[in-house]
Amino acid sequence: MKVLVVGSGGREHAICWKISKSSKVEKVYCAPGNPGIKNVAECINISPTDLNSLKAFALKNTIDLTVVGPELPLTLGIVDLFQKAGLKIFGPTKDGAMLEGSKVFSKNIMREAGIPTADFEVFSDPEKAVSYVKNRNKPVVIKADGLAAGKGVIPCKTLEQAIEAIDRILVKKEFGDAGDNIIIEDFLTGEEASFICLTDGKTISVLPSSQDHKPVYDNDEGPNTGGMGAYSPAPVLTDEVYTFTIEKVIEPLINMMAKKGIKYKGIIYAGLMIENNIPRILEFNVRLGDPEAQPILSRLKSDLFDLFYLATIEELDRYCLEIDEKASVCVVMASGGYPADYNKGFEINGIKEAEETGDLIVFHAGTAEKHGSLVNNGGRVLGVTSLGNSIKEAIDIAYKGVNKICWTDMHYRTDIGIKACKNYSRI
Ligand code: AMP
Ligand code: GLY
Repeated sequence: MKVLVVGSGGREHAICWKISKSSKVEKVYCAPGNPGIKNVAECINISPTDLNSLKAFALKNTIDLTVVGPELPLTLGIVDLFQKAGLKIFGPTKDGAMLEGSKVFSKNIMREAGIPTADFEVFSDPEKAVSYVKNRNKPVVIKADGLAAGKGVIPCKTLEQAIEAIDRILVKKEFGDAGDNIIIEDFLTGEEASFICLTDGKTISVLPSSQDHKPVYDNDEGPNTGGMGAYSPAPVLTDEVYTFTIEKVIEPLINMMAKKGIKYKGIIYAGLMIENNIPRILEFNVRLGDPEAQPILSRLKSDLFDLFYLATIEELDRYCLEIDEKASVCVVMASGGYPADYNKGFEINGIKEAEETGDLIVFHAGTAEKHGSLVNNGGRVLGVTSLGNSIKEAIDIAYKGVNKICWTDMHYRTDIGIKACKNYSRI
């Protein structure tokens, strides 16, 4: 089988790495890929949003399955386009991808399906929005409706912050059209976790639980990022939370989408806020998390190609998901300054030495090759991902690897996974 993976981050490196291990797969291509992905796939220089060129490539090279990493091509309708051309592609159609592409759509579905989530209202008029936050008189979170590169969510503890957020999104249009509408929702407390599953519209296959670390600094301080590290399993996602999420969230969601004429196939990633063992939904994503995919796929023992292929041909019930009992931790190493501005082009050293220290893989994200050297070329640069007999052991292995790697101004969190050890003595 020939597989095309779309994307260029750490998540896509993990997907290519795992798919390339399948005995059924003779060739993996990645568009556009990165220098790490080059070791397991042939990188082709096509942008993830150039849907027509991707389709032409898939047709010309008789690709048997295309797997899409990031959300943008899905919301642009890559699945619809490929399906029309008779190509097999894993993921939701454009209308299904609205679950992530429009927070208004997503919250309305949650409300209609009775899925537990923060109370909310939708606004396009700044005056009405300001008057709502004044009356609400409690902390809120203000969200731009559309995709805003992870920056369109503004937590507001005070009324002044809320008024400023409304002004930034609805008046100053900081996020362009993505901010034509906003959600104002109640501020939830608890611990976050990522619940990620696949569906072919009939069967649900749940991947191992995980937890991301969004704020840039230790102890969850500083601005939010795309994710500074993740681990799996996440003990906060207990058996009770798991059952609740399947029965009260995922099943009602798939049924409500079907009622609206949308046959949802692909990944459903539910961002949970868990308090007193009860989850509430912060958001839905329609693709694997990044960096959650790195530890999750490191623990997957069964064939990832089969998983995506069977979901695509609606035979997911035939798949036997096998997960390694071991824990996995991914520490993201980022460019100095990230998530704000940063400099690129510094030589990265020590990856080979890191991979020699133990059960560990270094997934590439924002890297590039310059004059024969590997350099940083993005905000999140590497995901050092380990396997260990416990979270604690996996943390030790990951940081042993991290300590071998360096480039000018790099930074990383030193507490990835610690929350799991602190809160849950059994691991
Ligand atoms: P989202 O993209 O909607 O998941 O939001 C990004 C991040 O903002 C989440 O991972 C949470 O840390 C935070 N967040 C979003 N909604 C809320 C909420 N209602 N209450 C508290 N924090 C939230
Ligand atoms: N790690 C968060 C996300 O992928 O959305």
